[in-house]
Amino acid sequence: MSSISLQSSLPKTYRIIDITQETENVRMYTFDGSLGAKPGQFLMVWLPGVDEKPFSVAYDDGAHTRIAFFAVGPMSEALANCSVGDLVGLRGPFGTSYEWEPGQHLALVAGGYGAAPMFFVASEAVQHGTTIDVIVGARGKEHLLFLDQLESLPNVALHVATNDGSQGFEGYNVTVLEKMLEVTQDTKTDDPAIDQVFACGPEIMLKATLDLCNKFGVPCQLSLERYMKCGYGICGNCVMDPLGVRMCVEGPVVKGEIASKLDEFGKYHRDSVGRKHDF
Ligand SMILES: Cc1cc2nc3c(=O)[nH]c(=O)nc-3n(C[C@H](O)[C@H](O)[C@H](O)COP(=O)(O)OP(=O)(O)OC[C@H]3O[C@@H](n4cnc5c(N)ncnc54)[C@H](O)[C@@H]3O)c2cc1C
Ligand code: FES
Repeated sequence: MSSISLQSSLPKTYRIIDITQETENVRMYTFDGSLGAKPGQFLMVWLPGVDEKPFSVAYDDGAHTRIAFFAVGPMSEALANCSVGDLVGLRGPFGTSYEWEPGQHLALVAGGYGAAPMFFVASEAVQHGTTIDVIVGARGKEHLLFLDQLESLPNVALHVATNDGSQGFEGYNVTVLEKMLEVTQDTKTDDPAIDQVFACGPEIMLKATLDLCNKFGVPCQLSLERYMKCGYGICGNCVMDPLGVRMCVEGPVVKGEIASKLDEFGKYHRDSVGRKHDF
């Protein structure tokens, strides 16, 4: 039975101290405080009178917290209209985080706003002597996120894939991963093998990553998103079939062994009232 402190189940107000427009569609907010989040965890972001919704932590350095988001509907559009100096309610951090061993060689696969938590992972993991290949994918170069930040980290090799070929490899980031695994997991070469693959992005990308990792026998950790209401295991809205695991507590970061047993993964998700929607 998991427990969560009353402190983190109640929102506390934080002030927005910086706003950057990362791409045409993605904004990043920095708040004036830390919630002690680890890479992969999420927060519930509350705008009084509007709504409360989950967002991944893009960064937490012990003094400041960041989120990066798309404006896709009523709450995120209202959030996008906030200004520096405005107060926002934050609850958390919630859920599981990515885990690695010192000195491991990691491959990170990032799509969409998934590049934000992957930067958070990379910036923490390199402090533990890890070496990292990061593969950032997007529709076109104008949608690529966090390339400069990732490139500035030591022991990180950056790879880029765009669907339209406007930057880096023309095609999907998972195709770059496949080519990498074909080389690194070949025992005849001297290249160091990849110890773990971490992925964050659209579910179709996550499913393709899982299939590749299963094929090459590489452990992986994936960040799964389901409709969240309470954020800490009470309402049951985020459970996945057939295991009944709650993505806000036993996720959002799950190991490949668990994701492989979730029948709905890559096939469908449920909305706010539990109706199924195919991907
Ligand atoms: C663990 C987790 C981490 C997330 N991290 C980010 C992030 O870093 N950046 C980002 O831009 N978005 C993130 N999202 C998605 C974000 O929660 C939705 O974009 C947001 O809730 C949209 O709300 P809305 O009112 O603006 O739009 P709506 O019109 O209400 O919803 C638009 C779409 O967003 C999704 N959504 C809506 N409400 C929820 C909810 N309560 N829980 C989960 N999904 C919902 C649904 O797919 C829905 O179709 C994350 C979701 C989860 C579950
Ligand atoms: S969001 Fe309520 S149990 Fe997960």
